Amino acid sequence: MGEPQWHDLGPLEDFTGKALQTVKAGRTPLALSWVDGSFGAISAVCNHAGGPLGEGRLDGEYVVCPWHNWKFHARTGCGEPGFEEDAVPAYPVKVEEGRVWVDLGSGTPRSRKPHPPHPLARPVVREPGPLRVVGLSTTVMDKANPRFSTSDALLETALEHAKALGAETRLIKLNDLAFRACEGYYSKSARACTWPCSITQMDDQDQMDQVYEALVHWGDVILLSTPIRWGAASSLYYRMAERMNCIQNQTTIADKVLIRNKVAAFIITGGQDNIQAVAGQLLGFFGELGILFPQFPYIAHSRGWTAEDMENNVTFVKGDVELHQGARELVGRALALARHFVEEAPTPERIFRGGRKAHHMVP
Ligand code: FES
Repeated sequence: MGEPQWHDLGPLEDFTGKALQTVKAGRTPLALSWVDGSFGAISAVCNHAGGPLGEGRLDGEYVVCPWHNWKFHARTGCGEPGFEEDAVPAYPVKVEEGRVWVDLGSGTPRSRKPHPPHPLARPVVREPGPLRVVGLSTTVMDKANPRFSTSDALLETALEHAKALGAETRLIKLNDLAFRACEGYYSKSARACTWPCSITQMDDQDQMDQVYEALVHWGDVILLSTPIRWGAASSLYYRMAERMNCIQNQTTIADKVLIRNKVAAFIITGGQDNIQAVAGQLLGFFGELGILFPQFPYIAHSRGWTAEDMENNVTFVKGDVELHQGARELVGRALALARHFVEEAPTPERIFRGGRKAHHMVP
């Protein structure tokens, strides 16, 4: 604490109408609380990721950060029980002659409880080893009574072929993972959407970490399979895609490209049509993540709008030699491009010139 530096915030009646608000004392933003007739003033900048504490809410004596719900005592600035070491500065407040004053010179120090970094937050470095293919199945089914999935069948054919070509493979079925839908941290503020994902950091039961690990850290090729549902990709695909906002957002808020030199290809099947619309969505989305595509980046099958006999669709895909050969060739093309990047590529610095929003390939 230094010498007192009292700042006049203004007339009392300006501050008694709200339980919590942001005020500025000079250039210092404060979360000013008014509870049971007394004021508290703490820094408005959250210890976690800089969330605006004055725009949060009160939970008893604690200010709750609006971004990820960390709590700080409204008058002492200390974290909630168990996290007392995580404290934001707190400042004395007085009311004199009908005006509210805050003493910036006598603030308590900010202190941070050490939080070990999430394993996903490690630097993205391709570990040595053979090419690696992540198979991502997005179809939904009753796990206890599985049905034949045409998209899964072609994905399995492709992964078998990848192994035969010497690649390591990892199959992730989204249907087997328990993971929450995106809860819109980005909608609060771009900086509230963190890497690793805010949900992943807060909820150790959430299994999207397996997808992030495979896509960002492990795989060279991402081979995604989806059915066509009402002319769109599977609902599980969209649930996963929304959770990947945190990957793309790092480019925007931190100038950090998490996905480099990775290749994606797609398998799209459905009894009824709309293949190109589904492919267009997949290509657009993965393109925004910074993923690259081989020539002819998807295979697909649909018997068309009028085909209502789904059992024949299943029979067709099971037996169609060309379609399964197409799946093999698809993964072959993806691996050939990935091999270029892994074995012959120029350094990432030469491929990607940084720059906010400028995530293009340059010669
Ligand atoms: S809880 Fe405050 S920024 Fe995350």
